[in-house]
Amino acid sequence: MHTPTLIAVDRPQPAAIRAELLRGLRALPAVVSPKYLYDSLGSRLFAAITELPEYYPTRTEAAIFARHLPAIAAELPADLTLVDLGAGNCEKAARLLLPLRVRTYVAVDISLDFLQEGLERLQQRHPAVDMLGVGTDFSTRLLLPDAVGEGPRLLFYPGSSIGNFTPPDALEFLRQLHLAAQGGGLLVGVDLLKPIEVLEAAYDDQLGVTAAFNRNLLRHINHLVGSDFALADWQHRAFFDSAQRRIEMHLQALHGVAVRWPGGGRVFAAGERIHTENSYKWRADDFSALLVAAGFSAIRSWTDERGWFAVFLAQA
Ligand code: AVJ
Repeated sequence: MHTPTLIAVDRPQPAAIRAELLRGLRALPAVVSPKYLYDSLGSRLFAAITELPEYYPTRTEAAIFARHLPAIAAELPADLTLVDLGAGNCEKAARLLLPLRVRTYVAVDISLDFLQEGLERLQQRHPAVDMLGVGTDFSTRLLLPDAVGEGPRLLFYPGSSIGNFTPPDALEFLRQLHLAAQGGGLLVGVDLLKPIEVLEAAYDDQLGVTAAFNRNLLRHINHLVGSDFALADWQHRAFFDSAQRRIEMHLQALHGVAVRWPGGGRVFAAGERIHTENSYKWRADDFSALLVAAGFSAIRSWTDERGWFAVFLAQA
């Protein structure tokens, strides 16, 4: 039996992380990259979000795969190298390994600790598949180690994580994926436009799990920069901006707050916000055009009956 190999690539230094976070916290309005939502508790809270009745993307995408996997597999070569971008607990890829005839599974995630657990569990269920875990922040640059090998590559970017990018940044990111695919393919999940009530409920659930996920960011920031954010001072806010076609997530100060960190600090007025995430919702046609602009061809897509979510397969 194989055991998963774990590699850290181009890990950002703590000082660089601190500098990036403080730049955002001092900005007007304050902003923090959504990648910092995923410390180990944040990753677990996100996994809980995917189980919420209001959060339709994960189960809608899963239903598309359950129904169309044979058609998707028919388009792909055997002995595939599946490169799972943002693998998390590796559960989505687990359902693809057999149907897509995967020979090598490469799980990429910013959080290597969280990855390790999922990868070891998966390796036990699929002893014959070569498994590699890569800890890297692929949001700015996708560097895959040589250990990924030469087999035909399918980059897998599910869950509509592409929605975190603005359209120009999404184009740039897809160009990077086009390069990294080395003539292989891309399988990407994209959340589509739909009634605003459905969108807003998905990002502001009754149980408050999304609120906990968002507010946990402050704990993570305290840990990373040594700040003293008090969670009780901050409220979760999420709303759809129709002009930009995106859900925005913010943390909003409930009253005036003074936050300190080593070497400085900032005062937030009552109602002032920290912008923590954008989640863009696409029209299927616009996303196809984006893939073409990034260099992809032979684009196919599958959707659910309600047309809420789409899975695209494209040739690099
Ligand atoms: C992991 C980026 C796809 O935008 O729906 C879920 C993250 N944020 N609830 C999304 C998220 C709030 C999620 N993505």
